[in-house]
Amino acid sequence: MKVLIATQKPFAAQAVKGIREILEQAGHETVLFENYEGEAELKAAAAEADAMIIRSDKVTRAVMDAAPSLKLVVRAGAGYDNVDLEAATEKGIVVMNTPGQNSNAVAELAIAMMIYMSRGQFTPATGREIAGRSVGIQAFGNVGRLVGAKAAALGMKVLATDPFLSDEQIRKGGAEPVADVAELYRSCDFVSVHIPATPETIASIGYELISSMPKGAVLVNTARKEVIDEAGLEKALEERPDLKYITDVMPGNYETLRENFGVRVFATPKKMGAQTAEANVNAGLAAARQTVDFFATGCTKFKVNK
Ligand code: 3PG
Repeated sequence: MKVLIATQKPFAAQAVKGIREILEQAGHETVLFENYEGEAELKAAAAEADAMIIRSDKVTRAVMDAAPSLKLVVRAGAGYDNVDLEAATEKGIVVMNTPGQNSNAVAELAIAMMIYMSRGQFTPATGREIAGRSVGIQAFGNVGRLVGAKAAALGMKVLATDPFLSDEQIRKGGAEPVADVAELYRSCDFVSVHIPATPETIASIGYELISSMPKGAVLVNTARKEVIDEAGLEKALEERPDLKYITDVMPGNYETLRENFGVRVFATPKKMGAQTAEANVNAGLAAARQTVDFFATGCTKFKVNK
């Protein structure tokens, strides 16, 4: 089979080598397609692909239309909001992710972001320590649980909420459950966001939640920029000069935010949560193994479309 590794943001070289080895040992042909411009180039590259391994690359209906042999898309990572699942299902294309494989990298970034904002973006201004303060984990999945464990080890009080977990499961994961998202925002010095971007969650964090946070609170978003209602965020920051926001990756209104709020906001220019050699190797090799298993045995573990 022809497997296209399509990564606008390339994997570390070590990961590419490992992916190639796994696929080629199983008799597949690999084509590496990195740093490309956009959909037109991806459509051309995908024309003869039987499978694609991607990251945040957008696999739209148009891309699938241009790839008549496509049977499998493996998202080397957790979030799959970049793949048109409905189109894939209609066309009989299986879409998978590789849950958990890059979680530690994202969790480490979330912790780093809390410290960075507490220390005034590493300016000499007097900062705060994170020990003794509270962090609310919004969605206690693979990344959320790791953020909680690391925060606890640093002396923080960890609270969490997750619509898919019972209080007991949250307690077992080392956090104190709260009744709902509203209580989480009301009670925590930091909120670390780990929800996926879905029709239900897009723009779900806005003025009301953000402005309910305690004095000096910091909102940390290593999930998706789309889950924030950007106008609501701006209004909350305007009204509350003590609040701060840090995000991976840049919101649409970032220029205005920086202009109006200076070091109270920070955004990475390019999503970097999972951009470590370790995460690339873990997620990339898992994607390659899942591809091999799919073609060898029909295994659809980690399938995310219907
Ligand atoms: C994910 O959903 O796995 C992360 O957001 C990482 O995305 P990336 O592979 O584009 O860095």
